[in-house]
Amino acid sequence: MSNGPLNNKSIADERSVLNLDRVVFIGRSFSEYLWMFNLDLSNLKDLKILDCPSGASSFVAEASNEYKVKQAVGCDLMYDDNNISMIEKKGRDDLEYMITRLSQVPDFYDWNMYPNIEDLRKTRASSLGKFISDYAEKGMVNNPSKKYDRYVKAILPNLPFNDKSFDLVLSSNFLFYYHNVFDYDFHHDSILEMLRVTSKEVRIFPIQKPDAKIPEYFETLMESIKRHMQEKISFRIEKVKYEFRSGVNKMLVLKRDG
Ligand SMILES: C[S@@+](CC[C@H](N)C(=O)[O-])C[C@H]1O[C@@H](n2cnc3c(N)ncnc32)[C@H](O)[C@@H]1O
Repeated sequence: MSNGPLNNKSIADERSVLNLDRVVFIGRSFSEYLWMFNLDLSNLKDLKILDCPSGASSFVAEASNEYKVKQAVGCDLMYDDNNISMIEKKGRDDLEYMITRLSQVPDFYDWNMYPNIEDLRKTRASSLGKFISDYAEKGMVNNPSKKYDRYVKAILPNLPFNDKSFDLVLSSNFLFYYHNVFDYDFHHDSILEMLRVTSKEVRIFPIQKPDAKIPEYFETLMESIKRHMQEKISFRIEKVKYEFRSGVNKMLVLKRDG
């Protein structure tokens, strides 16, 4: 896809302006996660948390190394123990792709959290750097004995974890947002799978498309998820402080009742 400036015709085409044509391998920081998911550090310390998909986020690295959360695991389809330089390159390339796309339509974004595009680039590059060093140290690359299991390859809608392995599953900037990439069934099966591997909660941010609208199938999806979980689940929508795409600030909490 061309990274050149968008012409008037394509700017008028909401799809080309707002939707990335592929899921990018970038990531946010621990503090951005606290905002996206309405979380408080004091409530996280005793939890086993899965970040799914974790991408190039430094959430797992920071939660484990700096904030001493009981357990934080990241999973992603890109995690490949034998090719760390390829992962790093993908992270750098996708960051530039995202920055280029965003620079073409800065007015669609709310610049309260990051003063400007350069600051955004630095924030994302810092997360990538922290992720890569931790991945190199605590991934399987140098640990064939599988002493560490912090970064796990997983391809949704399937997860390689036992039932109720975690207390909390976090999923950001993936479901709903990439409505143009993943269909209803993918959302349905992925959410059920996340619910399978948690004992308490799944949190998903955002539940909106880039144009800030909640997908029209949302209610149907929730009804079906509840049926599949034999009604042993409740859900609520929370407004969060994290708002970069203007108006995209709603997070879904799915709570298991058994
Ligand atoms: C935009 S990143 C989000 C990373 C992180 N959650 C955050 O908010 O910063 C989306 C990630 O989804 C991963 N991904 C795409 N399709 C996937 C699938 N079917 N299963 C697992 N991961 C997938 C990509 O590799 C990418 O790293």
